[in-house]
Amino acid sequence: MGHSVRSCMIGMRMAAEIGLSVAEQSDLYYALLLKDAGCSSNSSKLFHLLSADEIRAKRDVKLTDWTRVGWESLHFALTHVATGAPFLERVRTFVRVAAKQQTESSALVKIRCERGASIARKIGFPEPVAQAIHGLDEHWNGGGYPVGLRREEIPLFARIMNLSQTLEVFLVNRGKEAALEVARKRSGLWFDPELVRAASSLAKRGLLWDGLDHQQTIDHALALEPEECRLLANEETIENICQAFAEIVDAKTPFTYRHSNGVADAAIGISRQLGLPEEDITFMRRAALLHDVGKLAVSNSILEKPGALTDDEWAVIKLHPYYSYEVLRRIPGFEELSVTAGAHHEKLNGSGYFRQWTADQISLETRILTVADIFDALAAKRPYRDALPIEKVFEIMKKDAPQAIDAQCLDALMMHQAGARSSTHDLLRLSAGVGANSVQILSEEQNEAVIPVR
Ligand SMILES: [Fe+2]
Ligand SMILES: [Fe+2]
Repeated sequence: MGHSVRSCMIGMRMAAEIGLSVAEQSDLYYALLLKDAGCSSNSSKLFHLLSADEIRAKRDVKLTDWTRVGWESLHFALTHVATGAPFLERVRTFVRVAAKQQTESSALVKIRCERGASIARKIGFPEPVAQAIHGLDEHWNGGGYPVGLRREEIPLFARIMNLSQTLEVFLVNRGKEAALEVARKRSGLWFDPELVRAASSLAKRGLLWDGLDHQQTIDHALALEPEECRLLANEETIENICQAFAEIVDAKTPFTYRHSNGVADAAIGISRQLGLPEEDITFMRRAALLHDVGKLAVSNSILEKPGALTDDEWAVIKLHPYYSYEVLRRIPGFEELSVTAGAHHEKLNGSGYFRQWTADQISLETRILTVADIFDALAAKRPYRDALPIEKVFEIMKKDAPQAIDAQCLDALMMHQAGARSSTHDLLRLSAGVGANSVQILSEEQNEAVIPVR
């Protein structure tokens, strides 16, 4: 929590120390904040590679020097590979990971930095921002990824960002001294020696770490945005940002690669059918694109689990709308949207999560979003079941209306879908609820294998 914001503050202090121009500082500022935008795109691959919690592995790998084979990297592998599996299986997975470590690491970093750079371009940031994100994991001595660039071939912003993120991770986990020690040790190997000198000098003068342990780091970071080059977001930029973050969320698992956009399409369809004004439709599109942003906090070992979840795993899943709410409520202008997005798993009868709200607390916007979300999740393939045909999706959903989901919103969605398929025949069939006995919907407690949405 707060890693990018603190890394941004450290990086901006180094930028001022080495005398970067205001325009350069502006590009660096956005690149620092977005440096991990591509991170979700290799989560699934990393989880399958390690057969373990990839979020924990990603955090801890930053504390390990993978480029030197020794006790540290061995210890990392033993504590992060196939955790929870029987010993022999762990050894087998460990040997597989070790044998392919070089090529796999390169592939993993490549996916992440290409996706990160493409997201920055999509939002509309200038090319140096994208290039900086692309070069984040290059090392001064040429031993980094994805290209193996050396020394000044690596964009300066990327060099600053790599050092900043390492300093931040060691600061938080091991303290100031350890952070500077690792920077010095890796100077000339991972890091540009001149930047390490700048960081040391700032630290000596008490300027490097100032305010980083403060509760309101985010306000400090926001204040660092170079005013002369501040990028202002118009309506189009906000749309692009929502689309970009939907892409980040959907990249998390192969099963959700178009989920946020799918939910947005369904939510817009329902809203139009209900005759909502255009500004409400914009609101619904953005809420749908961002509703699952909290899923980034859930490990793929849970999201991609093919079978039923344990109680502990369910408890983690149930926190994702809370994280969506927490992330979105901090964005000025998104306060109302954060409430709608954070409530997308609430049910009218109080059986939902994470607040167990009941009908009188659930707004029309949330009801639309919930119906759209369940529809898209059922219509797509999931690790715990195949994609369902639309007729079957509606059969299942009808059993939950009106007690758990809003019947009017469901009707509107069926009308919309029937219209989209421009077939009166479908409309009549859907409205009549043909074949409603063939699919059994079970409660979460009975069997998660057929639960529409996790
Ligand atoms: Fe969700
Ligand atoms: Fe969702």
